[in-house]
Amino acid sequence: MSILVTGGAGYIGSHTCVELIHAGHDVVVLDNFSNSSLAAVDRTRALAGEDFSLYRCDIRDREGLRNIFQKESIDAVIHFAGLKSVGQSCSMPLEYYENNIGGSVTLFQVMAEFGCKKMVFSSSATVYGQANQAPFSEDMPVGGTTNPYGTTKLFIEKILQDAYAADKDWSVSLLRYFNPVGAHKSGRIGEDPNDIPNNLMPYVSQVAIGRLPYLNVYGDDYPTPDGTGVRDYIHVVDLALGHISAVERVLKQTGLEIFNLGTGKGHSVLEMVRAFEAASGVNVPYQITARRPGDVAVSFADCEKAAAVLGWKAERGLAEMCEDTWRWQKNNPDGYEAAGE
Ligand code: NAD
Ligand code: UFG
Repeated sequence: MSILVTGGAGYIGSHTCVELIHAGHDVVVLDNFSNSSLAAVDRTRALAGEDFSLYRCDIRDREGLRNIFQKESIDAVIHFAGLKSVGQSCSMPLEYYENNIGGSVTLFQVMAEFGCKKMVFSSSATVYGQANQAPFSEDMPVGGTTNPYGTTKLFIEKILQDAYAADKDWSVSLLRYFNPVGAHKSGRIGEDPNDIPNNLMPYVSQVAIGRLPYLNVYGDDYPTPDGTGVRDYIHVVDLALGHISAVERVLKQTGLEIFNLGTGKGHSVLEMVRAFEAASGVNVPYQITARRPGDVAVSFADCEKAAAVLGWKAERGLAEMCEDTWRWQKNNPDGYEAAGE
């Protein structure tokens, strides 16, 4: 089957393309390269052992999208394209709403125009907001997002629910990711933040490589065993494999389903620092600072539904997540930029 991967040059998209091709699917990548590089696509092709079409296109560009659907025979779309920085979304909310929501609506309309109504969407555990208690399960009420980025995920979920309510030909899988970390085993593709990283593991690995002096630990007074925030870290390759299961299911049926993609286990910030130090053999200095506004104390998934319905389960543990993050960081100390490819 031929799968259009929007944002396929990005962190999760590139890993998913490798696994899609290994599972026997054809891939078409669309990206505007606002947060990614051509080197990632070249390396993805090399790892997958296969070429695929690449379109430099923006999801807000209706004619550009039509051109892709005219040229390619697309069976389903995995929709990663979007802006994802929580902090930036607070200072540029209108750009986030335009890019993520406006772009998604344009994409869904062009899909419908070409009779392609099979969609796997990258949502986030952020939609569970602050009122629910972990483990989060898919039937909990959503809302109460604390930043415009999170609100874009909530709204796009709702837009797809409304599209399905109006037209039962749609087949939609809403995937709520927990905290993706790690990199491909080869050390060739991984997460390459543009600026100073917002997320824990890229920050930790940049401290370890010497690009940043120390980690700021945002609060040690949460109601958790060591006082630091607890999250459900999932290896990006496990996450990618979850997309293969989800897309194969939407290809077979119609309906709208929601799945958490996590491990079901929570780990604190300090546990992650220790696991990273053990995997890398490098000391990671840190300082405790104030809580980061909008953070919840504990977030981890109830993964029963994905296991029961998709037959998918995350298999890679903390040591592997840290080893793979470190291999990527060590082999690419300045990310893709210095690759000269
Ligand atoms: P990423 O930034 O590496 O990948 C997103 C890709 O989309 C980038 O290559 C970017 O250039 C592209 N893009 C952005 N706007 C576009 C547009 N208008 N048109 C075309 N391409 C565009 O991010 P990622 O970590 O791979 O995340 C992929 C998806 O998963 C995003 O939707 C993100 O919100 C979601 N998600 C990520 C996390 C996480 O922690 N990484 C957690 C939950 C959900
Ligand atoms: N943290 C630090 N120092 C840092 C960065 C993070 O102590 O420099 C802590 C945070 O306070 C939190 C934990 O590490 O306790 C994880 O933080 P991340 O920023 O890595 O991840 P979040 O859980 O805050 O955010 C992630 C995604 C968002 C998504 C959210 C909810 O990055 O896109 O999960 O699903 F919205």
